Amino acid sequence: MRSDYMLDSTCDRKYHSDYPPCDWKQVEYNTIAAGFYWLGPVSGDIHRYVFQELGYDEQLKNLPENNALAGLSESLIEAWRLYGNPEGAILFVVEKVSYNICDQRFPEFKIRELNPQVKVIRRTIDELGERSRLNQNGELVIDNLLINVIYYRIGYEPASYPTQKQWDTRLLLERSKAIKCPTIHYHLAGAKKVQQELSRPGALERFLDEKQVEMVRDIFVGLYALDINEEGEKTIEMALKNPERYVLKPQREGGGNNIYGAEIREELLRMRDSKERTAWILMDRICPPITKGYMIRPGASTLPPILEMVSELGIFGVLIGNSEEILSKKQLGHMLRTKIATANEGGVAAGDGSLDSPYLLD
Ligand SMILES: Nc1ncnc2c1ncn2[C@@H]1O[C@H](COP(=O)(O)OP(=O)(O)O)[C@@H](O)[C@H]1O
Ligand SMILES: [Mg+2]
Repeated sequence: MRSDYMLDSTCDRKYHSDYPPCDWKQVEYNTIAAGFYWLGPVSGDIHRYVFQELGYDEQLKNLPENNALAGLSESLIEAWRLYGNPEGAILFVVEKVSYNICDQRFPEFKIRELNPQVKVIRRTIDELGERSRLNQNGELVIDNLLINVIYYRIGYEPASYPTQKQWDTRLLLERSKAIKCPTIHYHLAGAKKVQQELSRPGALERFLDEKQVEMVRDIFVGLYALDINEEGEKTIEMALKNPERYVLKPQREGGGNNIYGAEIREELLRMRDSKERTAWILMDRICPPITKGYMIRPGASTLPPILEMVSELGIFGVLIGNSEEILSKKQLGHMLRTKIATANEGGVAAGDGSLDSPYLLD
């Protein structure tokens, strides 16, 4: 999983005398759409190299270590081992054309390096529909190969399920004994609706003790349901009055689906009388402090200009468990995306953002 955060400049916590007051706030939580475990760490390596070239060896210590790729790969191997079949494989469920291939293949290489015994296969959901089955023990078998762990790299958007066939395949995988990353429960836990419901008074208290609740709640901004009731109406009124203060979000992942600014008003008025509005949530807009720097962007023919930018930090973690116990729970590493300050979303693939690395201040 990867939990994403931005610094919010409307807070008054002072971390450093050279940096404006701000505080970490959660943007969202990803369970499948959790990439950049390789491009994150490698950005740090590039910055380390540039520092050395420029003679800033003293400052190298300010670029934190980042073991996201190794952490993810070790965790997949740990799950593979827990399943207990040394002949079994780890299955990566992938799209027909993997646009993020320069990130996605690296856990495969790392797993091979860490434990050459572990076989990794990549299959599309259509290939799985044709060639996978459950054996009499409920184990997942593909072309006679038993699967210990299923690692989804797709499956979070409707386009992954164009017909009933793909849904049937997802159900087959879900029903199998293989360890899934994520299970359907955790897939749903990554939904914006769940994020919003968890922010309701009393919700976190079901899972955490008082001290933990306080710490977790501290990273939430305001999240609001758009149900068809008095509370939902109040939320709509609030958003219509100051749309620039919010982000309107559907139950989608992968960037480019949220609504900002004046369009929030249009969308809310359009669906005010429809049940559709309950499928969206409203969120306070986070205003990260602006930094200045260079970004390598597509289409540039000259030296990159100095730009105003904002950043979003993703923290990778892993949790392995079953309905009764948690067997493993770790923080694995991070990735930082920096985008031009005027862009609503930080799409790296869209060309508005780029992989970056944090610089720690004493
Ligand atoms: N509350 C917010 N305040 C400011 N920017 C936001 C907020 N929520 C999302 N964004 C911006 O939109 C991008 C996409 O939103 P996100 O919730 O992460 O959806 P997705 O699942 O599509 O990645 C984020 O990376 C961030 O740049
Ligand atoms: Mg996101």
